[in-house]
Parts: sequence; structure tokens; C-alpha cells
Amino acid sequence: MAESVGEPLDRVDARIKVSGRAIYTADQNIPGLVHAVLVTSTIAKGRIASLETSAAERVPGTLAVLSHKSRLPLAKDPMKVDPSSPADRALQLFQNDRVYYGNQPIAVAVAETLEAAFEAADRVVVRYEALKPSIALERADAYVPKKMGGAGDPAKSDRGDVSTGLASAAFRFEEIYSTPFHTHSPMEPHATIAVWDEPDKLTLYDTSQGIFGDRKRVASLLGIPPENVRVVSLFVGGGFGSKGPTWSHSVICAMAARRVNRPVKLVLRRPQMFGPVGCRTETRQTISAGAAKDGTLTALRNNVLSHTSTMDEFVEPASLPTRMLYSTPNNSTLQAVVRSDIGTPSYTRAPGEAPGTFALEVAMDELAYKLGIDPLELRLKNYAERDENKNLPWSSKSLRECYRQGAEKFGWSRRKPEPRSTREGNTLVGWGMATSVYPARRSPASARARMYSDGKVLVEAGTQEIGGGTYTIMTQIAADALGVPVARVTFRLGDTRYPPTPVSGGSQTAASTGSAVYEAAKALRDKLAQMPKDGWNGRPFVEAEASTRENEQEKQYSMYSFGAQFAEVRVDADLGQIFVSRMTGVFAAGKILNAKTARSQFIGGMVWGIGLALLENTVYDPRRIRVVNNNLAEYHVPTNADVGNFDVSWIEEDDLHVSPIGAKGIGEIGITGAAAAIANAIYHATGKRIREAPITPDKLI
Ligand code: MOS
Repeated sequence: MAESVGEPLDRVDARIKVSGRAIYTADQNIPGLVHAVLVTSTIAKGRIASLETSAAERVPGTLAVLSHKSRLPLAKDPMKVDPSSPADRALQLFQNDRVYYGNQPIAVAVAETLEAAFEAADRVVVRYEALKPSIALERADAYVPKKMGGAGDPAKSDRGDVSTGLASAAFRFEEIYSTPFHTHSPMEPHATIAVWDEPDKLTLYDTSQGIFGDRKRVASLLGIPPENVRVVSLFVGGGFGSKGPTWSHSVICAMAARRVNRPVKLVLRRPQMFGPVGCRTETRQTISAGAAKDGTLTALRNNVLSHTSTMDEFVEPASLPTRMLYSTPNNSTLQAVVRSDIGTPSYTRAPGEAPGTFALEVAMDELAYKLGIDPLELRLKNYAERDENKNLPWSSKSLRECYRQGAEKFGWSRRKPEPRSTREGNTLVGWGMATSVYPARRSPASARARMYSDGKVLVEAGTQEIGGGTYTIMTQIAADALGVPVARVTFRLGDTRYPPTPVSGGSQTAASTGSAVYEAAKALRDKLAQMPKDGWNGRPFVEAEASTRENEQEKQYSMYSFGAQFAEVRVDADLGQIFVSRMTGVFAAGKILNAKTARSQFIGGMVWGIGLALLENTVYDPRRIRVVNNNLAEYHVPTNADVGNFDVSWIEEDDLHVSPIGAKGIGEIGITGAAAAIANAIYHATGKRIREAPITPDKLI
């Protein structure tokens, strides 16, 4: 039997996706469906003085207009979050007249048609008592939180003595780096369809990256048992973290459906995606480094400042790479946050590591130039042979091979060290590099595998398809474990009726759900092997289920994916226009399960790096704290025209400490380091060091 894992198998869902037959949440065709449109706040802080719905209610076809005046009871306070559920966010579900941020849901109009719902929503008349909102990062009331978002790492870290390390260093360096607010901006807006099958039984079609967390949060707020809520999410049209937590609109949709006693569909309008469904906070990172003349780091420090909301706490863990990426005897990081009048920030592609590697890897580049050492050489000089932060050995780390192979493929040895040394006509050409790093996580998961008497195989796990290729790799894993061709296997996901799996976030789906699928398929194979010859007599199918536990080896090993990225930029010397003409990325991310979807994943991450480096920026009006560019035309993300040639490859690893299938996860590693490699290339091209993302032409001329 030919092995399918690792092969560049086409996506099993490619055909239905390109032919429009893949059912995304808002595509679900439910009989008797009616439409809901949210009304969101036009101020960022204050209270609703009056909210008038009579004109809205007169719009023909309107079924209900709900707000804080409608008395919609909940089983618990939606503003309180359970600390044991780190993905839960404080929700605004019409429980009072308070406004905490711009675009906060304050009412919902439900009508027979979408047009009527739009009109009714537009006719809700709101008067506010507005207070002066704040989004200032430099504030006296910044505080150090207990824990950070992501894995809940502490907000402070210390080893050795940074002050002494800096004071005694032959060379000292300190600079401030900043990254702006980002908005995820998936093509598919958040959408929910709520269907009450019985008075206490709900089906929720939801644009969710984590259907089991969604079920738990929604059930607890509505006061019904989780087993009475079925969440379905068959395809997600881009999530990037924004569809990990449950947000207010999903619960509002269920509340509205209960009130009008009809199935209700609620789709966020594009501007409504800027506020109530998370963002990446702005960060300011002060990096201090001390080094010996030969480049050996003696001290490294990163003090990070970022925003959370006034009602909830999410801390972007940007200091994490500074703690562990390089060998440094004296190392300290500290994160502080300020409470701003914004919707709560949340997970955004490579939370922490994306902005964190931008600052650290530009700082390393600056250090290399100042010491007159090749930037790659400086990194090799300070290569961490073990995780000095956790004081553990790596489960695997092929970063040296990534550096070597990346440098060779890119042609790094031909680099002219001097900035602004390569010019083609009016175009300045520059090269830069940086390191990629992202944790390799695995969480408990379950799966079920079934073989029918005709030899066909059905495998089910509750996980989500967020575009990475989950349907495809799970099919491959199951086929190999059972020893059958992939064509015989069907994999189903995205339904809480299937065995429970973790959120599709933190790059953990392949390692987590993939391992459960592998174990279930193996269990089925064993069962079939032990069956007597006449065992099939009368049986339509044979089935096995398997669950994986917490990874005990996390106590013995530090688990990360690594990579090296090299970028070439071409900058118009007069206009400052920047084009990333080529990038080379070499990654070490455990076993690669599908060469085609993996390549796409790595490229997708690197393209996000282009966005971070050059384009993405959520612009707030500083007086009213309202997003000015709240649409896809003005919130710039890279398009094909912004992307040059990508050369992507990987170092094969088989990391059985992370997962029984050897995979580490590849979803987010590509974005880490990419923006720094580009920023460093811009410096090399122009001689201008820009420490503030995005690097736009105005900053260069
Ligand atoms: Mo990702 S931000 O962990 O969905």
C-alpha cells in the first residue's frame, strides 16, 4: 500500500470549493429562515440615553427589534468570563445601557427579508450620553497582568541579571519597535444561523474555529445543557483567530430566534467586523541588548506595552520569542497593558510571536550591522542549544539546517554587506533575513473510524476546516493507518455530534486531531484484524473510537517549530514604493503531512508577514476612537500583485515527543519572522531603519 502521508495530494474538498458547492455557514438553507441585522454603537464610551424602535417596528415584515429594553434574560452575566476557559470573552448581550467600544451591538432587527431587516435596523433611533474615550498607550495606569493570552504564560520573566549584563557589555543597544492595531478581515464575515428545534434544544450554524468551546459558552449563557446545543461549522472562510472565541452576535442570534420563534440568520456587515469580534492590539516593544565584540549576547530585555479593553483582559504575548529564541545568560521580559475603550483584542495569527519576532528580529539585524557581523552569523553565534526559558531540551530543532538551506537557496553569500549598495536604475534592492519560531502544541482530541462491509471508510472528528487542509490531511492519516487507498476514505468534521476536538487555533489541529484520527484508525485496523472470518456476518460496519490525553512529554521537552526566512525588496528611490520581489522560507515543523497544503500554509503565513511589514493598519480617529478604514478597500491586506516569488521548503522532522504522527503544526510559523526579514531588507536597500510597522512609503521619503 502506497503511503499517502507526505504526498502532495490535492485537497479532497477542492472540487466542491471551486464549484461553489461547499456549504459555508451563511449558505445553509434552512426552511422558514428570517433575517437579523445588528445595530452597533456609534460612540466608543458612555451610555444609551434613549433607544427608539417604533419606526423600525413599522417597517413591513419586521418581526422584532430587540435591545436592552427588551428584557432578554440570560443564565449568567455575559460580561464575566471563566478563567478556566481562556478563549471566552466578555460579551455585550443587551443586558444594560452601557457602551464600552465603537460598534458594540446595542440592538438587533429581525424581519422576514434581509432588506426589511436592514431598513428596520437603520430606523432604530439612538441617543447617547457620550464620555471621552481613550486609546492612549502611554498611560500612568498601565498594569502588569497575571497571565497572558495564548498558553497563559506569566507576564514577567527573569533569568540572570539583565542590568549587570547590560552594564558590563562591550556593546549596548536599545530601541523601541511598534506594531499597529490589526483587524483579521477574513473574506467570510462572521455569521450565525440559530434554529430552536425544541424549546430547550438549539442548532447553531456558526462561523467557528472551535465548535465545542462555542457550544459550552452559548449553552451556559442560555441556561441549557451543552448536549442540547449542536454547533455546525463545515467550512470557515478565513478565521485567523477571530473565529476562535464565541462573540456577542452568535448569542444574540440565538436569543432573537428564541424570541421570534423562527430560525434566524445574522451576518455581520463588513464595518461591524471592526470592534465586536476581536483585533490584534497595537504593541510597543522596548528591546535592550548587550553583546561582546564578537556578537555573543550578554543580556537581552523586552518590555512590552499593549492594549486590552475596559471590560475584559487579553494580553498579546509579544515578549515570548525574546525569552527563548537566543542563548542569553541575562534575560528579562515584562508585559504591561492599558485598558482602552475598544472591543477586547484577541487571538490573531501567531498571537505574540508575530509582533514579537518583528521587534526581536529587527533588533538582531540592527545589532549585526552595528557590530559589523553578518546577520545570519550573529544568529548562529547565539544559537540556543536548549530552551533556557523553560530550562528544557528541545523536542527537536533543525533551525541550523533551515539557516543553511535558506541561505544557500536565497544566495545569501553573495550579499553586499553595505546598505544602499545595490541599485538598478531607480530601484534600490535589499536583502534581509530573520528567524521564525512558533510553539508546537497538542491538546486532547477524539475521533471515530468506521469500515463498512463494502470496504468504504468513514472517519469523524468534530474539528474545523479553516482553510488549511484539515479534510485532506485527516483523510490521508486515516487511509495510511488503515492501509487503504485515500479514495476509500471519507472524513467528516465541523459538527458537535462528532467526537470532541480542540479549537483550530495555535497551529495545533494536525498534531491534536491528526493524532486522534491516527489512533482511531489504528484501533479499527486492530479490531478488523482480530475479527473471525465470518465476523462481518450481518454487520453493516465495524467501528472504533479513540481519544488522546494531555501530552505528558511537555514536562520534559520544549516544543517549537522553527524556520529561517530571507527576503528581497525593491524600493523606488524617489517614491518609496516597496515590492517584496522574492522570499525564501525554510521551515522545520515536524513531519509534513501533505506537501501541497503545507506549502500553501507556509506561503499564507509569509504573505501575512508582508501585510504586517507593509500594509495592515487599523486606523482610529483619535478623538472618537472609531475605526476610519473599516472596510476591505481601505484596510489593506496583500493581494497577488503585492506578492513576488516564493521559494518554500522544509527540513523533514519526525517529532514523536509532540505527537504520535510526528507532526508539529505549520499554521502560524510562516508569519513569524517574515515581517522582520522584509523590514531588514528595506534597511539594506535604503539605509533607513524603520522600527514602526507598517513600513509605508511616507516613512521612507
Ligand atoms: Mo490562531 S490566532 O491561534 O487561530
